[in-house]
Amino acid sequence: MTTIRPFTCEDMLKFNNVNLDPLTETYGLSFYTQYLAHWPEYFQVVESPSGEIMGYIMGKAEGHGENWHGHVTALTVGPEYRRLGLAATLMNILEDVSEKKKAYFVDLFVRVSNKVAINMYKNLGYIVYRTVLEYYSGDPDEDAYDMRKACSRDVNKKSVIPLTHPVRPEDVD
Ligand SMILES: CC(C)(COP(=O)(O)OP(=O)(O)OC[C@H]1O[C@@H](n2cnc3c(N)ncnc32)[C@H](O)[C@@H]1OP(=O)(O)O)[C@@H](O)C(=O)NCCC(=O)NCCS
Repeated sequence: MTTIRPFTCEDMLKFNNVNLDPLTETYGLSFYTQYLAHWPEYFQVVESPSGEIMGYIMGKAEGHGENWHGHVTALTVGPEYRRLGLAATLMNILEDVSEKKKAYFVDLFVRVSNKVAINMYKNLGYIVYRTVLEYYSGDPDEDAYDMRKACSRDVNKKSVIPLTHPVRPEDVD
């Protein structure tokens, strides 16, 4: 049976099959442990019956006042487990946690070239809130879309009124 459960330190030793994907960032171990320590409820993994990692989501809650929101830091599903609804299920969990924390919205950054993910987020109700110029460093740098979905606390959906101009990474809080 496929299991969704909280991510543990041991999972860092077995997520290579998922992280080898070029669109999945691999961070230093301290980055993951920081998330585990601060926001364990936002760090969930999907495990196959044989104990293989099928995918995971890592996120956090941050911001002040009406900027209090849930953030998706990483979402990835192994190539052989795609189109099974796993990413949608993991996003649902993160949105539920954000609702319980009384967040105003959920947001995430995605490469403008990552059409599959952008399409998925749109299908899940996210809109492009703003473009962040040269957010991803590389050769060349790449812009990000900052995508958002309002939570029920944002009754007037103020958080998802798109900005009309792009911003730079230093302007993103
Ligand atoms: C993007 C990603 C997480 C999607 O994972 P997934 O488990 O395959 O997604 P789901 O099965 O939950 O798909 C949910 C919906 O998204 C859309 N979608 C997902 N993959 C799609 C694809 N390849 N083509 C078209 N639509 C797609 C569909 O609407 C799908 O619903 P449907 O299958 O009922 O039509 C996965 O492709 C991945 O890990 N990519 C590499 C890492 C990445 O880009 N992460 C996001 C960075 S911000």
